[in-house]
Amino acid sequence: MTTSIQATLIPGDGIGPEIVDATLAALDALKAPFVWDRQIAGLGGVRASGDPLPKATLDSIHRTRLALKGPLETPSGGGYRSSNVRLREEFKLYANLRPALTVIPGGRYDKIDLVVVRENLEGLYIGHEHYVQIDDDPHAVAMATGINTRAGSRRLLEYAFATAVATGRRRVTIVHKANIMKALTGIFLETGLELYEREYKGQFELDTVIIDACAMKLVLNPWQFDMLVTTNLFGDILSDLVAGLVGGLGMAPGANIGADAAIFEAVHGSAPDIAGKGIANPTALLLAAALMLDHVKLPELATRLRKAIDATLNIDKVRTGDLGGTASTAEFTKALVSRICA
Ligand code: NAI
Repeated sequence: MTTSIQATLIPGDGIGPEIVDATLAALDALKAPFVWDRQIAGLGGVRASGDPLPKATLDSIHRTRLALKGPLETPSGGGYRSSNVRLREEFKLYANLRPALTVIPGGRYDKIDLVVVRENLEGLYIGHEHYVQIDDDPHAVAMATGINTRAGSRRLLEYAFATAVATGRRRVTIVHKANIMKALTGIFLETGLELYEREYKGQFELDTVIIDACAMKLVLNPWQFDMLVTTNLFGDILSDLVAGLVGGLGMAPGANIGADAAIFEAVHGSAPDIAGKGIANPTALLLAAALMLDHVKLPELATRLRKAIDATLNIDKVRTGDLGGTASTAEFTKALVSRICA
């Protein structure tokens, strides 16, 4: 029997608790051995204790080093800083893994199976930004500094290359803009090419592409790619682009992997417009739970979960409204649990 695995559970805001309940029902049906420590964050944290990332939540993840997280609300413009960004920093979650796999066939793009690995901590997202006033215009000049380090690039590229080998990817593409940002993205490209030559040559094919050409190629022929690995900003954009290839954010899971923890989540937000209505689609969080099962080396449970999701959506045709169906979250969950237990 598998020994129990301690994990932190953050239901999150908006539709978070609804899709987390659905995911827990599926994991229970699979008899996944997680022992959950339930914690709050985001708007829930602000309401409960005035802190969007309470100490108890951080302590819990420090202890379990593993978390499943619903979406967390972040106010635009002012307000508090994103709890998601703080979690990435606190636990040094340097790799963001975003698989895009066709779950519902017959869309604009069929049979998509690719992965984006995004550097999650460096680049233009470090927040070194400011304005310079000229005369009476306080926003006359805007400046941002991007920082990529060789060490940061190497650990991300090592993670991507090792994942490519472990999951049988045949081709990895480094996406960059080293023709213009010669230093900032050149260091990432150079580090990747060196690492491949030194340690990974022959285990998969490596090629490189400039970000703008990559965006066009993804739209014209996404099947030519297998795994894309890139810096923070480009990865942010490309991972949403590839989510669009498989039907949008409602189907997109994400894993944030770091030195000190791993946090799994749906890529979409808290959907305040439908929160509490019982109609949210839990598929993205369910697929995130499958990634979590892979991460804790329970791939057979991950495969059962993915197959049950596939059967519920495509054979039973039980789908929520965002996928053109009429099922409520509870009806979808019931059908999924029947498939898992069948
Ligand atoms: P959103 O992803 O929450 O919603 C966009 C649209 O997609 C809405 O119409 C929503 O109803 C729909 N939608 C999203 N997930 C759905 C699901 N599972 N089932 C059915 N429909 C779904 O994006 P929005 O409105 O820009 O952001 C809302 C809040 O979520 C913001 O506070 C934002 O900061 C936060 N957010 C949090 C994220 C996270 O915690 N990882 C990621 C993205 C946004």
